[in-house]
Amino acid sequence: MDILNEQSQINSKSRDAWEHFDSHRTRVTDLIVHVASKLPSSTKIENGRPSLAIFGAGNGNDLNVERLLESFGRIHIFDLDQDALKRFQALHCQSKLSKEVIQIENPIDLSGVNTELEQYPQSATDAHVETVANKARTASGVSIDRQFDVVASTCMLSQLLHSVLKSVGDQHPHKNFLMIALRDGHLKLMSRAIRPGGIGLLVTDFVSSDTLPALQEAKDDETVLAIARQAIDARNFFTGTLPWAIKDSLATMLLESADQPWAIHSPWKWLLGPKRSYLVTAIEFAKTF
Ligand SMILES: C[S@@+](CC[C@H](N)C(=O)[O-])C[C@H]1O[C@@H](n2cnc3c(N)ncnc32)[C@H](O)[C@@H]1O
Repeated sequence: MDILNEQSQINSKSRDAWEHFDSHRTRVTDLIVHVASKLPSSTKIENGRPSLAIFGAGNGNDLNVERLLESFGRIHIFDLDQDALKRFQALHCQSKLSKEVIQIENPIDLSGVNTELEQYPQSATDAHVETVANKARTASGVSIDRQFDVVASTCMLSQLLHSVLKSVGDQHPHKNFLMIALRDGHLKLMSRAIRPGGIGLLVTDFVSSDTLPALQEAKDDETVLAIARQAIDARNFFTGTLPWAIKDSLATMLLESADQPWAIHSPWKWLLGPKRSYLVTAIEFAKTF
């Protein structure tokens, strides 16, 4: 399975979904602006303002860049898919200010293991699975040569996990082990890319209307919250995306600081189009060391 090609096709399908993304875009942007306002005054600043990295920026339909430019002096955009990055640039980098402030990075595999997944053998040895899982878990195959005040991952975690399913197959005995390794590696990478004193914001979809049809009709936040509770109670969510499990994984990883501040934000509905929506939440964590 060609992971880039698969992601590129998915991005291509949602390229014209700007209007459907409206309320999701407001939630994601509000949260990023909110965490920027919590940065300590000692934060390293550029052009008088903090820096932001977006992981999994794709077409950029989920960001109000005009608003982000009010809070950040430098914005770095990361994704695997060059075509989506070009669309991001065309959509968001037309003004003089955005051209100065936004840096579209070269396409990058932020898991560091796409090649290993694409070539994963059906009958892998225990040693092989451990080698791949260890590389994923430590994000050792990913090099980002700087740190940022805020790192926001915008709904790319579920796509990392989807890549495992599509590559090794959803019946493979190593599937869950590899998915959790990729999830933890993504958290590790975020944490590594945040400056001491900075903040991470993992925005993730965790279940879709495919298995939760009531979501498609939900209109208000109260109904969305009730549906989210039912889905979690029924264990109806994508493997590796349960917010509390993510929080526990972060706590283990960031043990150097026992009082690691964190928050799980109330879920919202992301309408992808007339036929599908997702429940999304965000986990915010501070890097205090
Ligand atoms: C669901 S999209 C996020 C939506 C996107 N923010 C938008 O508004 O279009 C997930 C993004 O993660 C990217 N992605 C998936 N796997 C990746 C990887 N291994 N490295 C970097 N980016 C990846 C995809 O290319 C895609 O753009």
